[in-house]
Amino acid sequence: MKIAILSNGNANYSTKRLVEEAEKRGHNVKVIKYKNCYASISREHPIVMYKGKPVSDFDAIIPRISNNMTRYGTAIVRQLESSGVYSTSGSLAIVRARDKLRSAQILSRAGVDTPKTLFSRNTADIDDLIEQIGLPVIIKLASGTHGNGVVLAESKKTAKSALQAFYLTNDDGTNILLQEYIAESAGTDIRAFVVGRKVVASMKRQSLDEDFRSNLHKGGEGTPIKLTDEETKLAIKAARAMGLHIAGVDMMRSKRGPLVLEVNASPGFGIEKVTGRNVAAQIIEYVEQNAKRTIKKDKIGA
Ligand SMILES: Nc1ncnc2c1ncn2[C@@H]1O[C@H](COP(=O)(O)OP(=O)(O)O)[C@@H](O)[C@H]1O
Ligand SMILES: [Mg+2]
Repeated sequence: MKIAILSNGNANYSTKRLVEEAEKRGHNVKVIKYKNCYASISREHPIVMYKGKPVSDFDAIIPRISNNMTRYGTAIVRQLESSGVYSTSGSLAIVRARDKLRSAQILSRAGVDTPKTLFSRNTADIDDLIEQIGLPVIIKLASGTHGNGVVLAESKKTAKSALQAFYLTNDDGTNILLQEYIAESAGTDIRAFVVGRKVVASMKRQSLDEDFRSNLHKGGEGTPIKLTDEETKLAIKAARAMGLHIAGVDMMRSKRGPLVLEVNASPGFGIEKVTGRNVAAQIIEYVEQNAKRTIKKDKIGA
């Protein structure tokens, strides 16, 4: 099979692992730096070009679009979709997953439990908002990542000034959420790596200092964990609701059961080191089983 990994380059650990496993299984695999692709939009011949050649004869692409390149990256994925190439993640699903507000709406509509979440653009409503959600309160930028853009406000005063600061610098750049603080799980969360309809690896992340955020990028530490059946089902349901076949589902254990925090469209492979699971091989196997069914040879150059 001819597989393309759309990535920022082969120095990236996840990309390296995907290449390694794809080659092991006898595939012809290429890393395509989507940043350096350009595309021609046309009804008859939608084309993506890379290094002067059309990207058209791949059987499957695995997008690994970074958070700071979502718009360009998903435009390239969308263009490849138009030309009939199978993609492990749809461009629309990636865009949705990058927006925490949109994700919360999609998840709750699908019956996936999440922390109680409000959104507003007006600090005049702060009393009302706090009354509904309680203190302390979590304030989040809808487009934040790696724990940046998540604030814990202990008092109404702090919440109000944090919101004002966020609104001031934002100007419709991203929405701002207020979220119920899950105190019983502070500093810990669970990452379930979903491939297709299975959880292939899971870990608990714990912040090593006083931080309430457990992101590994914030110095959190991962340990393998066995999920309960309820957590496994919830993770799969969340990935499905978001339309993602490959997803990193973050959950918190709360008094009222597991809650989904977010669903990541390009989950990191650090979980392989923590759990000893071969996640990359599972993804390549998933591609083998699913790309075959949807292969439509490109009209151009195939
Ligand atoms: N509602 C919440 N209650 C308690 N802790 C939270 C809550 N939301 C987020 N956190 C903590 O902050 C971390 C980062 O939040 P998250 O929503 O996953 O944003 P990011 O995309 O930046 O990782 C989480 O992993 C968790 O440890
Ligand atoms: Mg997170």
